[in-house]
Amino acid sequence: MKPLRIGMYGGGTVGGGVYELIMKNKASSIVISKICVRDLNKPRTFQIDESVTTLMADAEEMMKSDDIDCVVEVMGGTGLAKKVVESALKQGKPVVTANKALLAEHWGELQDIIKNNKNASLHWEAAVCGGIPIIQTLQSCYTGDDISSVTGICNGTTNYMLTKMSTGAAEYDDVLKEAQELGYAEADPTADVEGHDVRAKIALLAGVAFGVPVPSVDTIPCVGISKITSADFAYAAQMNSTIKLLGTAKKTQDNKLAVYVSPALVSMQLHSVAHCSGVGNVVSVTSSNLGTCSYSGPGAGRYPTANSIVADIYRVASGASSSAASTSYAKDLELDCNYVAKF
Ligand code: NDP
Ligand code: HSE
Repeated sequence: MKPLRIGMYGGGTVGGGVYELIMKNKASSIVISKICVRDLNKPRTFQIDESVTTLMADAEEMMKSDDIDCVVEVMGGTGLAKKVVESALKQGKPVVTANKALLAEHWGELQDIIKNNKNASLHWEAAVCGGIPIIQTLQSCYTGDDISSVTGICNGTTNYMLTKMSTGAAEYDDVLKEAQELGYAEADPTADVEGHDVRAKIALLAGVAFGVPVPSVDTIPCVGISKITSADFAYAAQMNSTIKLLGTAKKTQDNKLAVYVSPALVSMQLHSVAHCSGVGNVVSVTSSNLGTCSYSGPGAGRYPTANSIVADIYRVASGASSSAASTSYAKDLELDCNYVAKF
């Protein structure tokens, strides 16, 4: 069987992990034929096998290559990454991406391109909660169910920071630096600490869980953790609680959809969320048939995220079509952007 030839854009934290995982499985039918990075001379933690893979610094040039069957976009951002993803989809190629910012901001445009290009498909398990297979779970296990709420911790950087701050082990600036060094944070960590990363992820989760168009990120009320200090944890502890940054999408009593991002006091008795520590993420889904199920695991980092990308690549190799936009039956829900203000 002909191998699936991958053109990968990005060879950093996630891309490096994808390369290592694919190279480890020599027997696989996947070949990484080209990798595009910014700086060819930058030292990398992984060794490129030049008999298999070419390292390039020209994204436009690489897009013209005939040796690529599937594009993996792990460069981040919404500029060049958008061009790369759109160009691949227009050529009818499958795309695997971890880029939640791009997906949430340009969902409608990308779906329109896919509709018009028969073989194009988009796979994005890695974009939400790193290693937790939450997109596949929502798409395949809730098809006959009715979800009323999806809520949880969807950002590893801030959960790592809040966990350390809660024990008094570190202050905000130091622990943010640690999260960056560990490869959890976005290139610009403002997206993490101001909640924008969670906002993109909860918009995507809302689209899948409720069968609505992915809500525009501008309409989602969003507060991050940049104003939280160690003193806040002392007050939280007096109430036997801790502080977590939560993303929530839920049906309101008047059958609208409220989507918002905010730090919240979480009772220590709510184990799945309060005790989700470090880079961990957890998503609790409440539905008619299952009640509340929580899905937890590593929300960021090289190998967990690379694992989701590689799983998507194997799905492409087996001929899977796009990650579905929603659970099977869409619901006619209007977005309620003022929900938080009603507390
Ligand atoms: P990194 O900054 O570690 O890697 C980015 C890679 O893209 C680098 O190899 C860089 O090249 C390359 N790159 C960036 N801009 C350009 C450009 N203009 N031209 C060519 N190459 C370029 O980022 P991550 O691996 O952490 O993240 C990648 C994506 O994955 C992002 O969308 C992020 O949101 C997402 N993601 C990240 C997770 C994580 O835990 N880190 C988890 C889930 C999703 P060079 O190496 O030469 O600088
Ligand atoms: N910066 C993100 C986080 C990466 O910390 O969760 C995973 O999406």
